Amino acid sequence: MKRFYFALTLPVTLLILAGCQEKKADPNTLDGKTLYNTYCADCHHRDGGGSFLEGIPANRYTSLSEKELITLIRHGKAQMADMPNFTNLSQQQARSIAKYLREELK
Ligand code: HEC
Repeated sequence: MKRFYFALTLPVTLLILAGCQEKKADPNTLDGKTLYNTYCADCHHRDGGGSFLEGIPANRYTSLSEKELITLIRHGKAQMADMPNFTNLSQQQARSIAKYLREELK
């Protein structure tokens, strides 16, 4: 009986651990893709396609410049008040995300 419970709890524990792991990017990473997938993909999706039904615009075709993106990410933009800002990200991290968005996801 004990073995049965173990067989049941092990995969569940692993799943929970894996779930936590995915969220926790190294807080100091400068890798744009990792940062994007951690902070932006929940809403905008990994491909930057957004979600029409949830009112999330695609961001992969954004016309914002790198500089504007960095500001949007870190401080928000009055006309885009529905988008959260990420004061925890450094200027360099925001730049990596902006580059990833403009150069790789487009
Ligand atoms: C909680 C959901 C959410 C998250 C997380 C999120 N966004 Fe957004 N984003 C939005 C919404 C909603 C808008 C539209 C804002 C508005 O029009 O008021 C938006 C707008 C944008 C736009 C403007 C698109 C255009 O029209 O040019 C860009 C670029 C963008 N987000 C990039 C990002 C980046 C980069 C991240 C990660 C650092 C991110 N977003 C995280 C919800 C989110």
